[in-house]
Amino acid sequence: MNGFIFDLDGVIVDTAKYHYQAWKQLANKIGIEFSLDKNEQLKGVSRVESLKKILHWGQKTISDDEFTALMTEKNDHYLSFIETMQEDEILPDVSKVLNYLSSKNQKIALGSASKNAVGILEKVNLTQFFDAIVDGNQVTHAKPDPEVFLNAAIQMHVQPEDCIVFEDAVAGIQAANAANMVSIGIGDVDVLHEADYVFKDFTEMSLDFLDKLINPKK
Ligand code: BG6
Ligand code: MG
Repeated sequence: MNGFIFDLDGVIVDTAKYHYQAWKQLANKIGIEFSLDKNEQLKGVSRVESLKKILHWGQKTISDDEFTALMTEKNDHYLSFIETMQEDEILPDVSKVLNYLSSKNQKIALGSASKNAVGILEKVNLTQFFDAIVDGNQVTHAKPDPEVFLNAAIQMHVQPEDCIVFEDAVAGIQAANAANMVSIGIGDVDVLHEADYVFKDFTEMSLDFLDKLINPKK
């Protein structure tokens, strides 16, 4: 039995662009420059850690109250983007892959740093595919720590070495590798070179490839 673990933002739904816009606006507002390069380092990273990194880049110190206020502001901005989100924001061929894995009786889990994950899955109508959902509300150590994925394996009752992780973030690939799972990058091969395999998106992944993950010995 295998367990297939999906990251959410940037793998299942195209929300990575909304996180980027919300962080960029916030950073610029407090006088810190924010580039796509910096954004790459925030992918897969929790909200708290992301703001800490931004403040570090800008060499800025703020009070705890200001920190909390900025976190709320970023999340409110982000939520305004996802409020109207629908099934058309599911990334290409994600539904096809979920349907295929589920037709082959594979276990499926979500492994996301987001505290908004459950709400987003509901909005795009994908909740029913998941045997386990591990999100930012359940973990204490952010990716690249493997906690989120190891927790998903436990909840699916699958050994870590029989788990396959789909990730768009460098921190997520590192977390999957640290968990001793097969890591599959979704995105740019130059960025995700630490992954066992990289695909631009799910349209490039054949059913044959999925079959080999399901039955590696065949
Ligand atoms: C990750 C995203 O999935 O979740 C990060 O890649 C984001 O960009 C993190 O910061 C936390 O998300 P949220 O929704 O709890 O702010
Ligand atoms: Mg992601």
